[in-house]
Amino acid sequence: MCGIIGYAGTRNAVPVITEGLKKLEYRGYDSAGIAVFGENGFEVVKQKGRLSALEERLKGNAISGNVGIGHTRWATHGEPSDVNSHPHVGSQSKIAVVHNGTIENYRRLKERLEQKGVRFASQTDSEVIAQLAEYYYDGNLMDTVVKVSGALEGSYALGIMCLDEPDSLVAVKKDNSLIVGVSEHGNFIASDVPAVLKHTNKVCYLNDKEIAVLTKDGVSFFNFDKEPLPKEIETVSWSFDSAEKGGYPHFMLKEIMEQPRVLKDTVRSVLSGGGNKSVIDNLDISGFDKIVITACGSAYNAGVVARYVFERLCRMSVEVELASEFRYKDAIIGDKTLVVLVSQSGETADTIAAMREAKSKGAATLSIINVVGSTISKEADYCLFTAAGPEIAVATTKAFSAQLVLLYALAVRFAVKLGKLPPEKEIALMAELETLPEKAKIILGHTDFIQKYASECVVYKSIFFIGRNIDYAIALEGSLKLKEISYIHSEAYAGGELKHGTISLIEEDTLVVAISNCGRLFGKIMSNAEQVMSRGAKVLLIGCCPEADSASYGGKLSYIGLPEISELFSPSLSVVVLQLFSYYVAANKGLDIDKPRNLAKSVTVE
Ligand code: AGP
Ligand code: GLU
Repeated sequence: MCGIIGYAGTRNAVPVITEGLKKLEYRGYDSAGIAVFGENGFEVVKQKGRLSALEERLKGNAISGNVGIGHTRWATHGEPSDVNSHPHVGSQSKIAVVHNGTIENYRRLKERLEQKGVRFASQTDSEVIAQLAEYYYDGNLMDTVVKVSGALEGSYALGIMCLDEPDSLVAVKKDNSLIVGVSEHGNFIASDVPAVLKHTNKVCYLNDKEIAVLTKDGVSFFNFDKEPLPKEIETVSWSFDSAEKGGYPHFMLKEIMEQPRVLKDTVRSVLSGGGNKSVIDNLDISGFDKIVITACGSAYNAGVVARYVFERLCRMSVEVELASEFRYKDAIIGDKTLVVLVSQSGETADTIAAMREAKSKGAATLSIINVVGSTISKEADYCLFTAAGPEIAVATTKAFSAQLVLLYALAVRFAVKLGKLPPEKEIALMAELETLPEKAKIILGHTDFIQKYASECVVYKSIFFIGRNIDYAIALEGSLKLKEISYIHSEAYAGGELKHGTISLIEEDTLVVAISNCGRLFGKIMSNAEQVMSRGAKVLLIGCCPEADSASYGGKLSYIGLPEISELFSPSLSVVVLQLFSYYVAANKGLDIDKPRNLAKSVTVE
């Protein structure tokens, strides 16, 4: 989950790399480090803690060079510490490495090297790569990289520098993302596009078993037989500004506020010609007897919402599985199954594994992805792209909203193709989808009450989210959002399920957020609300509930009304309020909202 970057060019690599690392910090922030070729060999500065700590350290330890590598870490092997930070340099001080991923056979390799007298400095799996490279090195770095890759089991994206070849750096990957950026003043490797956007929007995506060799003059690509590879350089549409905070205190708030634009672009992508529309139009649903949606975290929650929409519109049963479970459960799927993979990053290790498992069983795979060029977008049989732009905050907001839109559109089109939805209904539903951006804008224009209410919620030890049917699905996302950024304990429950156990946790210091957009179930969810209020809890009711009468509950019930929308699309409006609520609770607690503790945005390890 770490972020890596490398630069070979005409500028001093140190500021170029530290600026790039800022754009990758969402991937991990346990420690950071940088290595450049200086006058006397490698100059390495590494520091436990945030990137700002490394920057402080660099102020008193000026290093410079035109070729360098940098890393921001999310520790998997070895505690966060200075010595475990990357880059790792071998004990002969000849080879330096930054690594994103995990090396599964590192213990075996380490033992073998130790028997040969190699002394290790850190507890990481990554150091074994630098030590092994030095052990194999016989004057040709590319040969060494091929040999090292052959010995490693696990996943890796690597930036490698060798003392004997001070004008270049080499990159290779397996199962973790790595892009190459080409600019006028030099060339880059990076885990993700935003790291290089300040310098270039010309990138290409490295595939497994491809080697990139960078100098200030250009980039060459090779396969493991050292044969040159032709690779196409693409121009990405993301701008530098899109990866900046743009005056907001946090990326999360900026990304919440961007949702009307994101909803509009994503709805447009399924209505007017282009990639998404043609993929949906051309997909022959009649060949499938089963749909399985699999994903992790919020993307899984989007799948839970989608199940209600698919089942309601297509009258077809849909399974939703956590990718981490799906990959090991020996799923009953085959060539008549469509497996839908939902992922912002397209690099989540469990979702990649679920996709490969589905493919190995003959299922067709359709992915819904935000990052163009990511592993899942390239390997799945079909791919729909969310038009969210770069999402930097660890807590997803705008990408989640865009995923919902694509899943709704898919369900509507499938329902028509299956003969379950008359074309006039399709037109009406798509027209309603087009109203989402305006309705989201209305919510975002009236945040005062949410802000004030949230500021009073910092005292709660526990906050429960309840809903029924599709409101329960979006309650899952409300609860995840709150716990990940505010550190307040939270759980989501189907309203009717509370009384089967969880209600024993309800006491004076509890808040229950009740979501109600299923008008037909309003009375039921209100009964649940009354049950918890009579046991001391306060309730925040969110939804389109014309019958809500908060005044009659003696201050125990508060209400946030939503614009009217059909039940099936209502999660898209509920979630905006839920995101704002979580954001303002965390902001009032003064927490590091964009980089919550222990988390990283792209979970590229198991
Ligand atoms: C969401 O706020 C979380 N950060 C997390 O649950 C995330 O949705 C999950 O890790 C999946 O990531 P992906 O969409 O990149 O696959
Ligand atoms: N396994 C390496 C470490 O712990 C890299 C971790 C990662 O990429 O998430 O240092």
